[in-house]
Amino acid sequence: MFGLEGRTVLVTGASRGIGRAIALACAEVGADVALLARGTDALREVAEIVEKLGRRALVLTCDAGDEDQVRAAVADTVAQFGRLDVLVNNAGGFGFAGPFLELTARDWADAIRLNLDSVVHFCRAAGRVMVRQRSGSLINIGSVSGVGGVPMLSHYAAVKAAVVSLTRSLAAEWAASGVRVNCVVPGWITTELTRAMSGQEEVSEGLLRAVPARRWGDPEDVAGAVVYLAGDAAKLTTGSCLTLDGGMTSTIGGPTLIDMLEMGRIPV
Ligand SMILES: NC(=O)c1ccc[n+]([C@@H]2O[C@H](COP(=O)([O-])OP(=O)(O)OC[C@H]3O[C@@H](n4cnc5c(N)ncnc54)[C@H](OP(=O)(O)O)[C@@H]3O)[C@@H](O)[C@H]2O)c1
Repeated sequence: MFGLEGRTVLVTGASRGIGRAIALACAEVGADVALLARGTDALREVAEIVEKLGRRALVLTCDAGDEDQVRAAVADTVAQFGRLDVLVNNAGGFGFAGPFLELTARDWADAIRLNLDSVVHFCRAAGRVMVRQRSGSLINIGSVSGVGGVPMLSHYAAVKAAVVSLTRSLAAEWAASGVRVNCVVPGWITTELTRAMSGQEEVSEGLLRAVPARRWGDPEDVAGAVVYLAGDAAKLTTGSCLTLDGGMTSTIGGPTLIDMLEMGRIPV
């Protein structure tokens, strides 16, 4: 149920962080993997590991925001592997971080291009292949910021909310064609994207105050959820959002009440 033997997976943003962990986890459970990012060197290193695991790897240098490049990347994958079973739309990031009033039109356009245009381009290119195959699993990497609001990252939060919405619509549109579309919604995960936050003790402690599990997630935490959604264990699951946030969005106010009880601030 959890294996991906004989399947082909394309992961965007596969050179580091969450995408790298997803690509390696898929290879570990039997998939051939197409690895995509703009920089080629780091992708080659991931490809070597995939091949050491006994799977085929394809390195795709591509800007996920450019529709022509995306179409070519999907065509190359199908030409190389003969089919495309799973697409993971992982490439993304903040770009800007700061007060909404300082966000420029350029910052906003960049956020849409990287986090939403890329998903739209890939869903169109890969969706065409999968609908024709009458099978496939599309997995979009959203964010808890698309579920709740995030001050100082409002542009990113708005665009990630759109990714969740697109996931649900496409899931319904393609369900009868055998194509599933789901979203993974991570909380705080330690990667290069969040290094400035996880690397500063005070900032990190402040952020974890809202996380009942009181820890940062690892890229592998996200990879496990993607492997589950990619394969037959989730064959009835479409249009869902699987949240991996240590309980952050399950509570209003985070673990503050627990802290106060433990400190004896609330008489019981
Ligand atoms: N880290 C977190 O706490 C967190 C939480 C929730 C959601 N997420 C989401 O998870 C995803 C991965 O984040 P991460 O933390 O692993 O980020 P990361 O460490 O910065 O990695 C980003 C990856 O995307 C690639 N990339 C960036 N721009 C690209 C483009 N235009 N075209 C193709 N590839 C591109 C990068 O390679 P190149 O630079 O070589 O292109 C890299 O492989 C993102 O969608 C992010 O929004 C992250």
